[in-house]
Amino acid sequence: MKHKDLLSISDLSSIDIHLLLADAVELRADGWVDILTGKTLALVFEKPSLRTRMSFELAMRQLGGTCIYLSPAEVGLGKRESAKDIASVLSRYADVLAVRTFAQETLLELARYSDAPVINALSDFEHPCQALADLLTMSDHKETLKDIRLAYIGDGNNVARSLLLAGALMGMDIRLATPTTYTLDEETIELASEYAEDSGGAIMTTADPHLAISDADVVYTDTWVSMGQEEEYPQRLQVFSGFRITPALMAEAAPNAIFMHCLPAHRGEEVAPEVIDGPASVVLDQAENRLYVQKAVLAHMLGGAEVASQR
Ligand code: CP
Ligand code: NVA
Repeated sequence: MKHKDLLSISDLSSIDIHLLLADAVELRADGWVDILTGKTLALVFEKPSLRTRMSFELAMRQLGGTCIYLSPAEVGLGKRESAKDIASVLSRYADVLAVRTFAQETLLELARYSDAPVINALSDFEHPCQALADLLTMSDHKETLKDIRLAYIGDGNNVARSLLLAGALMGMDIRLATPTTYTLDEETIELASEYAEDSGGAIMTTADPHLAISDADVVYTDTWVSMGQEEEYPQRLQVFSGFRITPALMAEAAPNAIFMHCLPAHRGEEVAPEVIDGPASVVLDQAENRLYVQKAVLAHMLGGAEVASQR
């Protein structure tokens, strides 16, 4: 892989992503396989999690390794102890760290002082492991990633940022529809546009969900209120009310369009129950695919090609 750490999708090249997805497919078929015996993953989480924690822990165990979970209260990142000391100490024990935190700067600081690779298990800025599982899910349901027309409708958040960058590297035609004040930052849009230029993809931003969803093969949304934004809940509910994925909006997508959501979901807010619980929804495939992608990421970081060739 391009870098020691996986803090952002921009740490990966399109070749890295293709390799990770191919390995994820193989590791999905392999099930339990001892390729990371003697290796330890430390999970450092400052926010709650169901999927990310489960899939990382299970991935490590199914590959023959071991893992230790450290909860927010135990770690006290930046309070009980500095990120520098935590990273220096943890990398004396563990071979890889998966960190769920708030500021992207915390991840950068940890990565700087950790000899072990650091994986972003979600920050306020990005959720790269989710985007990789989303690509695997899209490739399970569609013929080629490159031909996909993807509509992301909702908040320009961590999930949107990683998805935009990953989709752009894969050459997708991506339409991002958000309220104007909740769109992604200029640098991200520019970077994604550069990726799209190289890959033959396209990026379009709009405040009109109808424009974004027209003929889309994949319709994606996420919560309107991310972890840490709870106080903004009433205001966000109002601003985003026109961005709900309803059956009527979904009907404007391509005939075989799939519906995606990283979960946790809020029925009646960003998505209608008929859509998320309906036949177009692949949200459980997405959740399951987190396991296989996490396995591929861990295998690459802890042994790369060597590990893969032992299979
Ligand atoms: N999608 C996702 O990351 O879920 P968790 O927050 O439950 O890990
Ligand atoms: N955007 C959401 C994703 C949860 C997996 C959040 O950060 O809370």
